[in-house]
Amino acid sequence: MGSVEQAFDRIIASGICLTPAGRVTADIGIRDGRIAAIGALYDRPTAERIHVPGLHILPGVIDSQVHFREPGLTHKEDLETGTRGAALGGVTSIFEMPNTNPATTTRAALEEKLALARERSWVDHAFFIGAAAENAGELATLERLPGCAGVKIFLGSSTGSLLVDDPRVLREVLKHGTRRVAIHAEHEARLIERRYLVERAGAHPRLHPIWRDEDSARLATESVLRLAREVGRALHILHVTTEDELPLLQAARDVATVEVTPQHLTLSAPECYERLGTYAQMNPPIRGEQHRQALWQAVTDGLVDVIGSDHAPHTREEKSKPYPFSPSGLPGVQTLVPIMLDHVHAGRLSLERFVDLTSTGPARVYDVACKGRLALGYDADLTIVDLNARRTIENRQIASRCGYTPFDGMQVTGWPTMTVVRGQVVMRDGQLLGTPTGQAVRFASALPAGLPTTGPSLAGAAHPR
Ligand code: DOR
Repeated sequence: MGSVEQAFDRIIASGICLTPAGRVTADIGIRDGRIAAIGALYDRPTAERIHVPGLHILPGVIDSQVHFREPGLTHKEDLETGTRGAALGGVTSIFEMPNTNPATTTRAALEEKLALARERSWVDHAFFIGAAAENAGELATLERLPGCAGVKIFLGSSTGSLLVDDPRVLREVLKHGTRRVAIHAEHEARLIERRYLVERAGAHPRLHPIWRDEDSARLATESVLRLAREVGRALHILHVTTEDELPLLQAARDVATVEVTPQHLTLSAPECYERLGTYAQMNPPIRGEQHRQALWQAVTDGLVDVIGSDHAPHTREEKSKPYPFSPSGLPGVQTLVPIMLDHVHAGRLSLERFVDLTSTGPARVYDVACKGRLALGYDADLTIVDLNARRTIENRQIASRCGYTPFDGMQVTGWPTMTVVRGQVVMRDGQLLGTPTGQAVRFASALPAGLPTTGPSLAGAAHPR
């Protein structure tokens, strides 16, 4: 009573908001980068008011698996181009993988990435620490550093040199730390044993899922789940691709969460290899229709927690090498939202489930502070989408340095029209706005001591100076 009404910095007005209480047509009042009010705010003072009638406002999409290649591999991508693609694609936060050069296995390497992201990242970001024999004993400390999304383990070789294929080292890695560990589950010994299948002259990428077969995935998932149970460590199994792994994961809901990618839900073998060649080559591979259908069933059943893009660009020149010398990996950060919204349009999942898989899910799995829902006090990260927009995905739209997408030419219904990161509009109608002001994501299970006692100044508290 008697207090002066505080103005908002910005109001996003009249959108259909996906809140924890359901869909509500409301205005979102933003102050100091946080959601300060949700409701009827038409008569409230604000520095700016943006009307979005008919558009849906989703909590910001968190892409929790991207490879942005900096430092060391910036001919493929860097943190500016990668996050540019994220912002254009309606993604408000990214968690970046450690297989750069050098690999992100030390405090210095993590801090270098955070420094490189400052004033060049269009969206909020966090970086994984790669597990290796050399840093196993330090992981409990490393995983708690500001800006760290957690530990990533490659059980099978993929792009880069990170690999933990010795069960004793794996045990050591899992014993050091408490946060959920992200796992690339392919069985290295089996991959080596079967490599001969692709080494003959004229091998075709359609052999990729035959070499890196279902058992390669199943054996790795099976053994890492067993070990997780033994040592008491929660896992997140990345890019699950086989029907065979699903019952194992269903029986392990206490220790493991599950990610699938838009590629594995949208493309299938052998058609994708005939049409796209090495531009469909990724690890673990895109598999047959039976597996794709099983993954959709797992989405429907609630077994899948997260959709991540596994954005992993390589240059056209690199992709043009004859298989199997062509590198594995497909770009995806910019197409995650349109591809999945098209699946929403086709009735394969609800918009609520989309939010669960791309925002609430990653926030829950990685224990993100203040992101993952439209709620008071949360970061004002918004992915605003037009569910009726019919567009064609085209290579020329792609901001990634690689300049292509496996979805070139695909017609979709549903498109991101605005990306808001902590209250700043960074993309509107396909145009980037302002300058990159992305910050490090904070994690509730790894908050540093000495946070300010009150107020929105918490927003920047965890950032290394
Ligand atoms: O296909 C892939 N490419 N899978 C991975 O695990 C790594 C990624 C890359 O970094 O290129």
